[in-house]
Amino acid sequence: MSQVSLREVNKIYGEGAGRVHAVQDLNLEIGDGEFVALLGPSGCGKTSTLRMIVGLETITSGDIFFDGRNISRLEPQDRNVAMAFETYALYPNFTVEENLAFPLEVRGVVEATRRSKVREIAEILRISDILGSHPSELSGGQQQRVSLGRALIREPSVFILDEVMSHLDAHLKFRMLFDLKRLHRELKRTMVYVTHDQVEALALADRVAVMSNARMQQVGDRNTLYNRPANVFVADFIGEPPTNFFRARVVADDSRLTLAVEDSDLVLVPDEGTAAALKRSEPKSVIAGIRPQNLNLSDKPVALNARVAINEYLGERSMLTVYNGSIRFRALAPPETRISRGEAVRLGYDPANVMVFDPETELLIS
Ligand SMILES: Nc1ncnc2c1ncn2[C@@H]1O[C@H](COP(=O)(O)OP(=O)(O)OP(=O)(O)O)[C@@H](O)[C@H]1O
Ligand SMILES: [Mg+2]
Repeated sequence: MSQVSLREVNKIYGEGAGRVHAVQDLNLEIGDGEFVALLGPSGCGKTSTLRMIVGLETITSGDIFFDGRNISRLEPQDRNVAMAFETYALYPNFTVEENLAFPLEVRGVVEATRRSKVREIAEILRISDILGSHPSELSGGQQQRVSLGRALIREPSVFILDEVMSHLDAHLKFRMLFDLKRLHRELKRTMVYVTHDQVEALALADRVAVMSNARMQQVGDRNTLYNRPANVFVADFIGEPPTNFFRARVVADDSRLTLAVEDSDLVLVPDEGTAAALKRSEPKSVIAGIRPQNLNLSDKPVALNARVAINEYLGERSMLTVYNGSIRFRALAPPETRISRGEAVRLGYDPANVMVFDPETELLIS
């Protein structure tokens, strides 16, 4: 059992001119056995948050609970949580087997038990064949697995991984992603995985917690973050290529509501639900968003007219950068699309995919 709750957690480093508010009023609930990814740009406070969960950093204010028990002031060794870092930190003079057994030895576990635990974890991590090797003889990916094994062998109830794959090549990363997912399934531990890579976060986790600027922006599954982003930051950060944003005036008459994009003759038509939400809150202008994936060369009834600036062939698809007036935005097309610079295109969309945000707060309206 380990359910983790962070309540109104703050971390402030230093004071005076050197004061950094690294984590601000952070709330997060992680279910027992859940796999949560903490995602956000560099410097947003991810590692600080983890270090407070583990106990390597004091909590400036707020509390952290494991299964309802306040552990905020407990020493790291009394929290039953393990952390694996990007750096491997293996003992160079020990074999893989000795490295794995070490945390058990420190705890006074008898040799026979140590041996069987090492075998078990080595099998899960697929490193049984290198137990006799020294770290210097291993590849980066193998070292990474041994280091994960050493953190896991203590059987922590919460397992935390900080950017553990950021310097592996794409191929190894893919295999490790797969292994981590399997590991989570087999061990059924509560896991928190930190990354600034959305592909990793979305591939691995049950839910993703998006942080920016010391604050939690949104916690949700892939579908929620993608289709119902809480604010402009999440809509921009999640999805590749990022969402197109337009400053637009709300034009409403009795029969119809449309969004007239500034500095262009583009008009976006939202769906009925969004139109109704805008009629209720009556903003004069909004930030409208639509994903490049949702703008396609097609004969859909509603479309944006534009001209092509760049047609980039990306292998499995083409990315069109287009313009209308002084507004540039992007759309996706089939890979073999032959369109050249300056050509006029009609980019069809489904009104349901038009998102609108408050221009002041940048929060999603609908
Ligand atoms: N020990 C410290 N003393 C002072 N400031 C710190 C300390 N540790 C982190 N910070 C600052 O706190 C902020 C958050 O840092 P943190 O390491 O938590 O970010 P992060 O999201 O993990 O970033 P990255 O993706 O680069 O690892 C940054 O502005 C950082 O400079
Ligand atoms: Mg970090």
